[in-house]
Amino acid sequence: MTRVLSGVQPSGVLHLGNYLGAVRGWVTDQRSHEAFFCVVDLHSLTLDQDPRLLAGRTLDAAAGLLAAGLDPEDCTLFVQSHVAAHPRLAWLLECTATFGELRRMTQFKDKGGNSETVRAGLFTYPALMAADILLYDADRVPVGDDQRQHLELTRTVAARFNHRYGQTFVVPEAAVPDVAARVMDLQEPTRKMSKSVGSPLGTIDILDTPDDVARKVRKAVTDTEGQVRYDPVTKPGVSNLLDLLGAARCEDPIAVAARYGDYGSLKRDVVEALVELLQPLQERYAVLSADPYQIEQILAAGAARAATVADATLDRAMRATGFLVPPKGFAP
Ligand code: TRP
Repeated sequence: MTRVLSGVQPSGVLHLGNYLGAVRGWVTDQRSHEAFFCVVDLHSLTLDQDPRLLAGRTLDAAAGLLAAGLDPEDCTLFVQSHVAAHPRLAWLLECTATFGELRRMTQFKDKGGNSETVRAGLFTYPALMAADILLYDADRVPVGDDQRQHLELTRTVAARFNHRYGQTFVVPEAAVPDVAARVMDLQEPTRKMSKSVGSPLGTIDILDTPDDVARKVRKAVTDTEGQVRYDPVTKPGVSNLLDLLGAARCEDPIAVAARYGDYGSLKRDVVEALVELLQPLQERYAVLSADPYQIEQILAAGAARAATVADATLDRAMRATGFLVPPKGFAP
């Protein structure tokens, strides 16, 4: 069976961009693949994290993933920092990737690549991401459009390592969904929906109440043309609403556009579709969040399962590189 791996940052409960752009597809993938999903808490430290909030956000992200439909019977759900092989393999991959390759990553450039005070971890971020993927021999990595370049680098690094040290890693394929690969911010529709930047009005959280959803969609930026057309370049705001409605109802946004004359009725239907989409997630979340200990147990079991796979790959990579292998029974 092919292996799937993906990860999400622990920025608390998921937002609609995480859900429609990635996680909803993971729920389908877990049934047809051997699937590993991780909350990438180590990655989150590339930006400042409040130590009093990080653990709670990690747990909330896991609860969000479970509420979205990940099932611990069907997939391995774990927290990145619980599996020590991740930062260990990342070092080997930092020594495989080049300065020039990492410097060219657009995410690095966008998040402050020319600042002296940007964390070094933001620069090496793609090597850690490559480790996340390669440790599990993942064939398929379902990610949003913005992660394509990181995936491409992962492939380059895996192939280079294999070439230098002999066949060690599976070279993975990116799997970017064609619908809603990019859910944009409602206030700045040329920017991806994200919790860490911009106005809270631009992001819909999967736990937003129907009133929140209605308020945010009503205030969503459109344009002055007054005509509903799907054209992400000249009409990013309206096109984003069409993408959302299309994604929520599993329809093509161009076909959706044909049914609407004015922005008001489009927005009304977007609200209705999103409220309907989120309701079952919110019901599951209410049950899950009543018992955080159960979530911690799911994550502990997930980490144990993940570690068996990851440790074996790390061992293979260490041996291939030529490191002195510690005697049997030695646990670092
Ligand atoms: N970089 C990804 C993001 O920001 C998160 C991530 C980390 C990831 N490791 C991964 C995604 C491994 C897929 C596979 O969305």
